[in-house]
Amino acid sequence: MNHVRFLAWCALVANSVLAIGTATAADWRIFEVDLISPRNMTYTPQALMPIVFALQNPASSDTTAASIFWSVWEGNNLTSPGSIMDGVLELDVGDNWNRTSSEPHFVTRFFNTVNYPEGFWTLSWSLQLYNCSDNPEKQGDQFITTNNATTFTVSRQSGKTPDLVAATSAETCGATVAYAYNVTGGEYGCGFMGSNVTANPCSVTINPSAASSIMAAATEMACSPLETGVYPNVSCPASPVESSNEAAPPHVAAAVSIWLALLTLVTTLIHLR
Ligand SMILES: *[C@@H]1O[C@H](CO)[C@@H](O)[C@H](O)[C@H]1NC(C)=O
Ligand SMILES: *[C@@H]1O[C@H](CO)[C@@H](O)[C@H](O)[C@H]1NC(C)=O
Ligand SMILES: *[C@@H]1O[C@H](CO)[C@@H](O)[C@H](O)[C@H]1NC(C)=O
Ligand SMILES: *[C@@H]1O[C@H](CO)[C@@H](O)[C@H](O)[C@H]1NC(C)=O
Ligand SMILES: *[C@@H]1O[C@H](CO)[C@@H](O)[C@H](O)[C@H]1NC(C)=O
Ligand SMILES: *[C@@H]1O[C@H](CO)[C@@H](O)[C@H](O)[C@H]1NC(C)=O
Ligand SMILES: *[C@@H]1O[C@H](CO)[C@@H](O)[C@H](O)[C@H]1NC(C)=O
Ligand SMILES: *[C@@H]1O[C@H](CO)[C@@H](O)[C@H](O)[C@H]1NC(C)=O
Repeated sequence: MNHVRFLAWCALVANSVLAIGTATAADWRIFEVDLISPRNMTYTPQALMPIVFALQNPASSDTTAASIFWSVWEGNNLTSPGSIMDGVLELDVGDNWNRTSSEPHFVTRFFNTVNYPEGFWTLSWSLQLYNCSDNPEKQGDQFITTNNATTFTVSRQSGKTPDLVAATSAETCGATVAYAYNVTGGEYGCGFMGSNVTANPCSVTINPSAASSIMAAATEMACSPLETGVYPNVSCPASPVESSNEAAPPHVAAAVSIWLALLTLVTTLIHLR
């Protein structure tokens, strides 16, 4: 039943016979969340310091109702200026991306480290998902929560610019903090999961054009009227952006900016409470 519904949904979204073929091919998928940025290293101050999570088999974030709760703060003080304490990435809602694609999906947020003292920062995050294997009736009672934290340093003198390409290179991908789950079935918000599986963050790569799309979309987001005053140190184009036609792959750029705009809207609404 669930499977049939999933297929119908795939067909609706993708409008493609190919997608149905793909969905029936495997009855389990490895859902994986990888923290690509920031890393445990020293960065120069950034007006848009990227938080980037890669989702592998991203459609499983619907099945598992996956969310990431995150906070970032400077120094030892959780309420120091520049801290963000209530970040939420609801991976299963409010995000207009292609769920029939099995390509990794990147979920991003950005924060300012220019306007604050140099020194160390902490990104603390927790991934929460629902395992319905035991008893689907008890949905919501069986969540799996995994916490992690990454510390990094901000220094004008010794820092490097964040480099998403380098973070997924063969030399450094092994250090990526990653969690993987074998999703063997289930329906929206109630995924059946097998036992833990080994994460494979090295299967995600960000090439230079994908990295620059991510950062270009971030600038566009930060310069949009919705975000006025939120990212004061971003240099925005002089005239209002009317279109993103300058970018080489307009399809990708447009798709990225549409979902960023939606994410931004959702975040703004959450922040406005
Ligand atoms: C972060 O990097 C520092 C310096 O390279 C190292 O001493 C420390 O163990 C690292 N921390 C983690 C959690 O990997
Ligand atoms: C943390 O920062 C806030 C805001 O600057 C300040 O009011 C508070 O006293 C600081 N707390 C500590 C323990 O330093
Ligand atoms: C979504 O991804 C699937 C599989 O990669 C692809 O066939 C389809 O064209 C994509 N749909 C959109 C709207 O990009
Ligand atoms: C984060 O994950 C890494 C790699 O799995 C682990 O070594 C580290 O202890 C974790 N850190 C925390 C704060 O749980
Ligand atoms: C995931 O679970 C299925 C069903 O139990 C199993 O056949 C498959 O081998 C598992 N995959 C991995 C990578 O463990
Ligand atoms: C999900 O629940 C089932 C049944 O209790 C259990 O066997 C499995 O290990 C759980 N998976 C995870 C990732 O916790
Ligand atoms: C499976 O992973 C979860 C965190 O995702 C952890 O709490 C649990 O102890 C792990 N179970 C086993 C059997 O390794
Ligand atoms: C960042 O923006 C703030 C607010 O407009 C400003 O006071 C500060 O000087 C800027 N910092 C830098 C390094 O440009």
